[in-house]
Amino acid sequence: MEIKFTKAAALKEKPVDETTLGFGHNFTDYMLVMPYDEGQGWHDPEIRPYGNIELSPAAMCLHYGQTVFEGLKAYRTADNKIQLFRPDENFKRLNVSNQRLVIPPLDENLAMECLMELLRIEKDWVPHTEGTALYIRPYIFATDPYLGVKPGEHYLFMIILSPSGAYYSSGLDPVNIYVESKYVRAVRGGMGYAKTGGNYAASLIGQDEAHKQNYSQVLWLDGVEQKYIEEVGAMNIFFVIDGEVITPMLQGSILPGITRKSAIELCKSWGLKVTERRITIQEIADAYDAGKLDEVFGTGTAAVISPVGHLKWNDKVMEINGNKIGDISQKLYDTMTGIQWGKIEDKFGWIVEVK
Ligand code: PLP
Ligand code: COI
Repeated sequence: MEIKFTKAAALKEKPVDETTLGFGHNFTDYMLVMPYDEGQGWHDPEIRPYGNIELSPAAMCLHYGQTVFEGLKAYRTADNKIQLFRPDENFKRLNVSNQRLVIPPLDENLAMECLMELLRIEKDWVPHTEGTALYIRPYIFATDPYLGVKPGEHYLFMIILSPSGAYYSSGLDPVNIYVESKYVRAVRGGMGYAKTGGNYAASLIGQDEAHKQNYSQVLWLDGVEQKYIEEVGAMNIFFVIDGEVITPMLQGSILPGITRKSAIELCKSWGLKVTERRITIQEIADAYDAGKLDEVFGTGTAAVISPVGHLKWNDKVMEINGNKIGDISQKLYDTMTGIQWGKIEDKFGWIVEVK
């Protein structure tokens, strides 16, 4: 499909100091927009200057949250190649989210073509500084001007790009996480496995409470018994207990993270024992008391590998590994970012170069 290109009258200044980028504040010169209309399917993709879009005040996405999104990054290597990490997995997951939200599927090859073309135009925006990347946000939302509750017949698929640094201002320093015992984020049969705005809206109140207590993120427990560990606001969670790497299994209520999947594959390739199972917060507290909780870390595109320094569950505050990054977390971080930034050979076939 031909992608129309509309040139901007002027280009923006690129951020001068890449060390202060933060996450998700700056946007590039162009964005991709492709409509879907019932009867016509996805059609007429266009790359045009980044800017506000016109939307009916009645647009269904604004009222009933029929939206999905993805998050991935483009990395610049030392020899100035631009590369992506498992982008096919993102578009596959986008379609899983689409299916749950009754949004028409998007041809994954077409989505990839759109992204590649946008990145070819915007490659100068991929930052150069270690630890930075161009964050890519593909998303879809229903645009029908209608107040009845039903799936839309009109959508927009868009991609915007944001040069970004670390998601947490603490960088690779351990983050402090608060276990939420009152609210829940998702339940089985719900839409926890889909990457959709509503899940994040549901999480804000817990995050707010965590912030008030000086914790940066929330660890969610299951929506039925509030016993089993699920995931963190923007990342999956791993525990190392007595040398064994344990992470909650996928049962439909948590996001199947691509970083999670890659961390499991890396740990297995190093001969570590990795188990995906249900795990209770009590079990974590018991392992901690027994001195067997070696490491806790989160995984996510934005967060990469994020060591957890403190875990607060009701009145119990667990200091993990002396509030220092653990060996497995460090090795995962080094290997994952090494592959992403082209410093380590990609033996897994995860990297796709933007040419
Ligand atoms: N869980 C949630 C709720 C997320 O928002 C994310 C971030 O995308 C993740 C987990 C990690 O997923 P991934 O590794 O695919 O980025
Ligand atoms: C990502 O890691 O890509 C995410 O989508 C996290 C986001 C909710 C900030």
